[in-house]
Amino acid sequence: CGIVGVVGNKNACDILMQGLEKLEYRGYDSAGIFVTNDSKNSKLIKSVGRIADLREKIGIDVAGTAGIGHTRWATHGKPSETNAHPHTSADGRFVLVHNGVIENYLEIKSEYLAADTFKGETDTEVAVHLIAALAEKEGLNTLNAFKKALTIIEGSYAFALMATEEPDVIYVAKNKSPLLIGLDDGYNMVCSDAMAMIRETSEFMEIHDKELVVLTKDAVEIQDMDGKIISRDSYIAELDLSDIGKGTYPFYMLKEIDEQPAVMRKLSQVYADENGAVKVDEKIVASLAESDRIYIIAAGTSYNAGYASKFLLEELTEKPVELGIASEWGYNMPRLSDKPFFIFLSQSGETADSRQVLVKANELGVPSLTVTNVPGSTLSREASFTMLLHAGPEIAVASTKAYTAQIAALAFLAKAVGIAINNKKAIEFDVVHELSIVAQSIEATLSEKELIESKVTGLLETTRNAFYIGRGQDYYVSMEASLKLKEISYIQCEGFAAGELKHGTIALIEDNTPVLALISNNPKVSAHTRGNVSEVAARGANVVAIVEQAAAIAGDDIIVNNVHPYLSSISMVVPTQLIAYYASLHRGLDVDKPRNLAKSVTVE
Ligand code: G6P
Repeated sequence: CGIVGVVGNKNACDILMQGLEKLEYRGYDSAGIFVTNDSKNSKLIKSVGRIADLREKIGIDVAGTAGIGHTRWATHGKPSETNAHPHTSADGRFVLVHNGVIENYLEIKSEYLAADTFKGETDTEVAVHLIAALAEKEGLNTLNAFKKALTIIEGSYAFALMATEEPDVIYVAKNKSPLLIGLDDGYNMVCSDAMAMIRETSEFMEIHDKELVVLTKDAVEIQDMDGKIISRDSYIAELDLSDIGKGTYPFYMLKEIDEQPAVMRKLSQVYADENGAVKVDEKIVASLAESDRIYIIAAGTSYNAGYASKFLLEELTEKPVELGIASEWGYNMPRLSDKPFFIFLSQSGETADSRQVLVKANELGVPSLTVTNVPGSTLSREASFTMLLHAGPEIAVASTKAYTAQIAALAFLAKAVGIAINNKKAIEFDVVHELSIVAQSIEATLSEKELIESKVTGLLETTRNAFYIGRGQDYYVSMEASLKLKEISYIQCEGFAAGELKHGTIALIEDNTPVLALISNNPKVSAHTRGNVSEVAARGANVVAIVEQAAAIAGDDIIVNNVHPYLSSISMVVPTQLIAYYASLHRGLDVDKPRNLAKSVTVE
């Protein structure tokens, strides 16, 4: 979910709506704003669906210079106008927006609010009722009622609270959910993402967990739960607005797929000098070189990118690489090696599941590196080190360029560590040159869009299920390829190790089941994968072979130009991104905003 709030001398509705549009990637099942001028003149407007639906409902701007807004990704309670934020207390005095999950909301309901009736099913409504109950029963002012409520509430939260009798104050608090203050002359803001404020300001201030902020037009007062005032410097972040437009593209996803060659080249500029020598922070290299095992922690596409980088990292750093699903490792951390090093892969740098593992890693004193696309993000701030992806904002919910950028960034890291430990393979691996070949290979694939689209027609327009199969690196790519297809076309798809299929799952293959086989140039396994293709074809499968040139034979469907075997996951994934894109398009779906998903999930 996304939060935005503003108080000051500007048109609040305008700022809130612009902010919500920027935050829509965090959830888009419903949205709402509360805008106020003075206690007698305030408006609460909510709507199911996208921000555009809310905008339509608002019509002409609502007058007011302060307000809070929210875009929702449902956790408790279905998407509906009632469950949309902001939520209000029964008397309408308090108005609250919230991200996160209040774990003890049922207990709070029965212990403190047994007599209350609730309009919807959200934990947030319980929180705002609790604040009202404490204010009323204990005669507390808003700040103290809020503070008291925070001592009762357990779980993760980012809150922005307003009281109708104080139209010039926003009360803010956070625990585990991202939230940031934006400052400017004559007005101040609060937001879950700097990106949503960049039109207004480039000056920001962090809020830490378990802190409370009183935000007014000219002041930002941060305090801890004991009321001790905390002084904190603001910082300037020059974010680039220029590349968040869609240009002439029908969807962001297609634009972002097309940007991948440029991202590969950009990474070479950032992580190598003009002679091709790698430039990675020496402290990161030294810390990783000292470790005895690399643990990659991530979720979703970033998790798949971790697998796609495993071979290259192991070859060049000479260390075993283990993958961890963030949501599992936060609470079921397996036994670690003696000298672990954690790498957090996260496009957004905000995924709550990954952050939970980082909190544990920090408690254990394990060194960590966040590889992210968003400077200043939570995971970046809290890890020992950061490497940036420089992929430019990724807006489409289905991640594409962040996946390929993650592998490429890790290639530079692996090479740098390999050189530090004098590994011959690393010394000989010319990452800049090889990535330029990758960029060209991607360009060649991008010029075959029509061919790729034609493979989708018929094959994926109406099917309910599909399989991607591959071995080695191609197996890892098939995991990502199938996730992409699931996310935006709603086809149930499995990414399977080609050889494992025959041990059970092949029972699902029937006449016309789509099976997409990935075959990069790996002579050790490609003949075996071909064998597995024959097995499914013999059982009626409709096979599409996506093959690297050097391994291609007559009749293969999509040919991918050759690249270095360390980097084949990057070039092999691109046709599968396009396949997912066209499948979604042909099925008449919203490519950029698939149902039920959010780009950045800040709840566990
Ligand atoms: C969400 C998105 C996925 C994404 C995952 C991890 O679930 O829908 O597309 O891969 O989060 O996001 P991150 O920002 O940590 O890479």
